[in-house]
Amino acid sequence: MDRKKITIVGAGNIGATLALLLARRETADITLIDINEGVAKGKALDIMEASPILGFNARVTGTGDYADTANSDVVVITAGFPRKPGMSRDDLLFKNFEVVKEVSEQIKRYSPDAFVIVVTNPLDAMTYTALKVTGFPKEKVIGMAGVLDSARFAYFISEKTGISVENIKAFVIGGHGDDMVPLKKYTTISGIPVTKFLSEEELNKLIERTRFGGGEIVQLLKTGSAFYAPAASILEMVIAILWNKRKILSASVYLDGEVGEYYKASGLCVGVPIVLGKNGVEKVIKLELDDEEWKQWEKSVASVKKLVEKLPV
Ligand code: APR
Repeated sequence: MDRKKITIVGAGNIGATLALLLARRETADITLIDINEGVAKGKALDIMEASPILGFNARVTGTGDYADTANSDVVVITAGFPRKPGMSRDDLLFKNFEVVKEVSEQIKRYSPDAFVIVVTNPLDAMTYTALKVTGFPKEKVIGMAGVLDSARFAYFISEKTGISVENIKAFVIGGHGDDMVPLKKYTTISGIPVTKFLSEEELNKLIERTRFGGGEIVQLLKTGSAFYAPAASILEMVIAILWNKRKILSASVYLDGEVGEYYKASGLCVGVPIVLGKNGVEKVIKLELDDEEWKQWEKSVASVKKLVEKLPV
């Protein structure tokens, strides 16, 4: 049986880290493509030279030519510019729009049946761009943000409570910006509401840290943005699709119809709970929110809408 094929566009920090993680799990053969062909080839070769030690059989190749990406099952878009200190994700809008538009045109041409996972920021607007430019079904174009934001929240809860990260299920929805919506009510430790372990005040502090979790890393790194946790988050999504796990996770997807009306976000890509499996987005789950959460949600949707309205697609 032929192996599955995954293309990662952008062999930078996130792309290369993801290539190594995917190879170690032997998920598929991997093609790294970058505008800087040498970087894609060099990192792919470096990963392959680790394979005898780490013991994986996936083949990782680097290229600058989209013909080599043909017929990919999954394409991950990490190409673009990362943040520098003082920048918000939204400051990247127009520069990264051009990149994601060009990349999406190539995906449409060479891998018309692929699932597309978008990582480039500003995430929700770039997911919308990829959806519109490829013209792919909405179930197959998915933005990665909620898994990462939820993982950050979960880690902070683990650090504060001293309970294993394995027991913590945290949930963050909304746009991937500073007004994302971490949900206390749907966050549990081994099924027990997190509010049994942490006071309102303690939780609010962790929520604030989660909202600015990406910025905290940018401040420390100074020359780029987070990449280990983002790559791990993409790995989870790729595996959910390729191995038909039907996992419930938070991701940015196009909302329309009844569920679009429910979330008051019709015509936008925003982070919501989905079931992710072999058909991509198999279901969008309607969460019940309280008044305060709906207020936060609407603020977050408004921020996404403001960006999307500026896009020439
Ligand atoms: N086509 C292909 N590759 C491109 C293009 C393009 N048009 N433009 C830029 N790239 C490549 C760069 O050459 C670089 O190798 O994308 C890569 C981006 O890597 P990094 O600068 O290391 O950025 P990274 O940290 O991986 O983040 C990528 O994800 O989280 C977001 O905000 C982040 O938008 C950024 C993206």
